[in-house]
This record gives sequence, structure tokens and C-alpha cells, in this order.
Amino acid sequence: MTCYTRHMRILGIETSCDETSVAIVEGGRTVLANVTQSSCLEHAATRGILPEAAARRQLEFMLPVLDAALRTASVTLADIDAIAVTSGPGLIGSLLVGVATARTLAVVHNLPLIGIHHTLGHLSSTWLLPTSERSPATSSSPPQFPVLTLSVSGGHTDLWYRTGHTSGLLLGQTLDDAAGEAFDKGAVLLDLGFPGGPALSRFASGGAPSAIPFPRPLLGAPRENLDFSFSGLKTALRYTLRDRGGLSSLTEQQRRDVAASYQEAICRHLLDRIDRALDRHPESVELHLVGGVSANHRLRELLHEALSRRSSPPLLRLPAEMAYCTDNAAMIAAAGYFLWTDGKVPSAVKADAGARLDTVVTIS
Ligand code: KG4
Ligand code: ZN
Repeated sequence: MTCYTRHMRILGIETSCDETSVAIVEGGRTVLANVTQSSCLEHAATRGILPEAAARRQLEFMLPVLDAALRTASVTLADIDAIAVTSGPGLIGSLLVGVATARTLAVVHNLPLIGIHHTLGHLSSTWLLPTSERSPATSSSPPQFPVLTLSVSGGHTDLWYRTGHTSGLLLGQTLDDAAGEAFDKGAVLLDLGFPGGPALSRFASGGAPSAIPFPRPLLGAPRENLDFSFSGLKTALRYTLRDRGGLSSLTEQQRRDVAASYQEAICRHLLDRIDRALDRHPESVELHLVGGVSANHRLRELLHEALSRRSSPPLLRLPAEMAYCTDNAAMIAAAGYFLWTDGKVPSAVKADAGARLDTVVTIS
């Protein structure tokens, strides 16, 4: 392995969906730049992402975002030690833009190229320091394993018991929709626009979380079960609205109550599984909440409350900045660093829309 006089500096590229992001991260923690441009708001008209439209924006944004990241970090490509890029899963057209850019940079500048599974990026996001903190020596200490991590985004809902960056047990996954998808589909039913998660969360803030008794998913499942299911909640929301004469028959306050109760049901299902996992693994030193849904204020609030009820709770760690919750390249650069230091850099980098996590993480 190459020896560096300073911490290895990785340029990360993330283009798996509708965010074009480039970051420069040193030693897996110090963020010199994390620049993200999103085409998200453009997809509001279609209430969802059109893959071709997202890929066209990726093409347009890629080089300006790369330039902006290098300028922000005050470095040139000659100061970079390796390139890390999200190789999957995601939208193939979007992924190809990032992978082609990363491969070109790696070849032209003779740098190692590290392909990253998107979820490994989210799992690494809690190691990132705030962009204002440039000195790791005086910064907060890095997370300690074993870590219990709930990774909740628009594409996955995974509960992990992690013994290292690239090793651990996958305790539970969603059987149907992801938690973020439940927010997005709920927002469509409530006509709250796109992206749905933040919109539903904002709208719910004026509502009563206990107004509607939504069902508890997988209620009959034994306590050992750590899987998730959200599609029943979405159906219950549809019937709740239908039984009340449709959305237009409700007052604004009633709509807010429905939104708050729906959000509450999603959050409580997530918390129930965290609680079960902590009972199974009380030795977990830290509990991490990552992915787009980790930005949700109610989920954070309920999590703090739940941990305060435990006799010896683990340390709760959230991504240090909101920008590290949703898709960003800093987490990809961090993941690249950890794969490198664990000696697990994949030999080939290829855009793969259906990439499997067990190709990079030992799941036992
Ligand atoms: O991690 P992410 O940016 O992209 C994926 O990997 O999917 O997560 C995006 C998801 C979307 O479903 C979005 O609605 C949800 O995260 N999300 C939220 C919030 N912010 C983003 N869900 C609930 N509350 C939020 N504040
Ligand atoms: Zn993501």
C-alpha cells in the first residue's frame, strides 16, 4: 500500500439518482469540499424522477460541480490520491455519468479508482466531520465499533450490527417499500409535492400524531424479527382518506393530523426495530441513524426519547450535517478510504443498477 505523508485525500463522486455531488475528503473524515447540485425540484411536475431527465441533468452538472469542489477545497487534481465513485445501485443513466467521469480522471491522472456501493457510503457518513472542522487532532473522536446502524433512504431500509467498516450482520431489511418511499408515496396521496419526505415532515409539524390509529406493521411477527414493512401503511393511508370522503373533504387541520399520524406510524415502526436490535445487542457502543430519512425531526426526537428510557443506552450518532444525510459525495469518499484501509478495494469498477452489498461487505 502507498504511504502518504498526510492523510490520504480522496475525491468522491456520487451520481446514483438526481444529485450530482463531488467531494474531497482526507483520512475518511475531514471534508475539504462537498458540493451537491440536485435536479430534484425539476421532478415535481412528474411527482417522481424520470430516469432520462435525471441522467441529462447529471451530464450537465458534472463538470461544473467537479470544478466547484476543487475550488472550494483549494486543490487541483494533482493533489488527489484516489478517486471513489458510486458504482451502484441506482439509475443506470445517472450512474454511468459518475463512473465515466471517475474512470477518465483516474486514467488521465494515474490514480487508483475505487467503486463504492451506495449503501456503504451512507454507512460511512457518520465518520464525516462538519465542513468547518479541518483539524482531526482537535475534533470529536471517531465512532467506536460495534455499531448498530439504521440506514433509511428512498431505496433501502437496513438495520446493521457492524463490527467494522466492511464487516457485520445485516439484522433486518424492508420486505416491500423503503421508509423514504413510504414518505414519498404518502406525500403523493396527501398532494404535498415532491420530494415527499421533507414536504410531509413540514406539513405534519402542525398536526396531532395520535389523531389516526394507523396499524402497526408486522404486528404478529415474533420479537426476533427485525424486518420492516411499509406498504400496508401506505394502503391504510389511502383507505383513511377514502373513508373520510377524499382529501378535498378534509380541512387543512385534518390533513395535517393525518400526515402527522402517518409520519408517527413510520417512525414508531423504525423505533420498534431499533429497540429489539438493542435488546439483542446490548454491547453496541454506538447507535447510528443514516440516510435521507435520518433528516426527519420527529424520528430524531422519538429516538432521543426512546434511548433516554434505556438503562445503559449506546451513544447516538447522527450525520454531523444535514447534507450528509441525503445523497452526497463526501460519504462516498469516506467509504473509499475505509475500503482502501481495509484492503477491500473491488478489482473492477462498473456501473451496476442492481449492485449487491455483499460484494463489498462481509455479511455473516
Ligand atoms: O439517502 P437519500 O437522499 O437517497 C436514497 O438513497 O434514496 O434518501 C432520499 C429519501 C427520500 O425518500 C426522501 O423523501 C427522504 O429520504 N427524506 C426524508 C426527509 N428528507 C429526505 N424523509 C422524511 N423526512 C425528511 N426530513
Ligand atoms: Zn442514498
